[in-house]
Amino acid sequence: MELPFSESFRIKMVAPIKKSTREEREQWIKDAKYNLFNLKSDQVFIDLLTDSGTGAMSEQQWAEMMLGDESYAGASSYYKMKNAIKNILGFDYFLPTHQGRAAENVLFSVLVEEGDIVPGNSHFDTTKGHIEFRKAAAIDCTIDEASKTELEYPFKGNVDIKKLEKVFDENDASKIKFILVTVTNNTSGGQPVSMQNLKDVRAFADQKGVRVIFDSARFAENAYFIKKREAGYEDKTIKEIVAEMYSYADGMTMSSKKDAIVNMGGFIAMREKELFDKASMFGIMFEGYLTYGGMSGRDMNALAQGLDEGTEFEYLETRIKQVEYLGDKLIEYGIPIQRPVGGHAVFVDAKKVLPNLPKEHFAAQTLAIELYLEAGIRGVEIGAILADRDPVTRENRYPELELVRLAIPRRTYTNNHMDVIAAAVKNVFDRKEQITKGFKITKEAPIMRHFTVELERL
Ligand code: F0G
Repeated sequence: MELPFSESFRIKMVAPIKKSTREEREQWIKDAKYNLFNLKSDQVFIDLLTDSGTGAMSEQQWAEMMLGDESYAGASSYYKMKNAIKNILGFDYFLPTHQGRAAENVLFSVLVEEGDIVPGNSHFDTTKGHIEFRKAAAIDCTIDEASKTELEYPFKGNVDIKKLEKVFDENDASKIKFILVTVTNNTSGGQPVSMQNLKDVRAFADQKGVRVIFDSARFAENAYFIKKREAGYEDKTIKEIVAEMYSYADGMTMSSKKDAIVNMGGFIAMREKELFDKASMFGIMFEGYLTYGGMSGRDMNALAQGLDEGTEFEYLETRIKQVEYLGDKLIEYGIPIQRPVGGHAVFVDAKKVLPNLPKEHFAAQTLAIELYLEAGIRGVEIGAILADRDPVTRENRYPELELVRLAIPRRTYTNNHMDVIAAAVKNVFDRKEQITKGFKITKEAPIMRHFTVELERL
């Protein structure tokens, strides 16, 4: 008999989680003004709000924490992180930052000016926020296949080179200083970018004389998909694939809370000394001195160790197979989800799960709330609430996709938890005919409203 797949770790420390009754959850979510961000974590049984900073560190990472050097300048922890970045990603220069959006803030302070255009593949909200805050524009050039949820396509995160060309042709090209490639593409469903596409973007950028920057939060998961899906890479190690990926980039921003498996941390890295010197000034101003930039020494140590572990095949296989396990279960139950299943999360197509809801009722938010009520599972809305209002007309924007993201924290839950999640989604799906009303907004912030929005049942 062939041995089945199993995890490449054993569990050494556990944290209890609490079940609750539907009655309790009805009250809690009402008190939370139907905003899942307002729930206390102990009101949640399985927390799939994000995979960012919510994973479990390894014993080696905890051991590294004890060796942290908290010197203000020149700490050995800084050099551990520097070596890991050089060895794994190939960059000579880097600046630590406290998380990914801080990395964006520092780098974009150098690279983005008013009136600039930053083309890329579905910029993450904070990335877009940091571009738009500087009165520049983020233009999405993701391939069209990405928005067709049930279409099986191996690299739905790819950049459409024709769309890139159009951006350069239709705008003042001097306003475009770099192309931003997000690996994996979170917004389109944790979908990977192929090596061929990274090469094509590099060749295009060289032709136009602009830089290529990778938003790298889930770069290792991207490398795993290249190994699994792209011809010629099946026998390469993840570290070899990562090294090739980054040979096509001039620099990167990193939220280490994902693929470096730490609870907090980030960095920027680059090849050019001149760019490093310019960014250093902003790093010192916003984050801290060059050799700690918003991070404790112990956290830099854990991050360096996490970069190494996060780019090991066995770890990634365990991680991605669990996401796949949940995705397969949902497909088996007939639930419409973004396919193929991405690296860090399963995205449920809320419009198809709740077809009786008018768009003004916020289908994805309604589904996320139903899932919480059903089993205490907290996912996150990726739909009209997240999309905010149009900055000019102030009308609600209704994106093509209304999704609920079920993000799986790294090394945290078991497949029994995945079974509970799948059953809960199925139970909601089975009573979809009865769900004909959603929610209306009673209070909202002018931008990034999803974090603090307040809602009422219709
Ligand atoms: N880029 C990508 C692709 C991300 O997914 C995130 C964060 C960031 C940048 C910003 O990093 O949170 O460390 O400041 N994504 C989290 C999520 C919040 O839930 O997907 P950060």
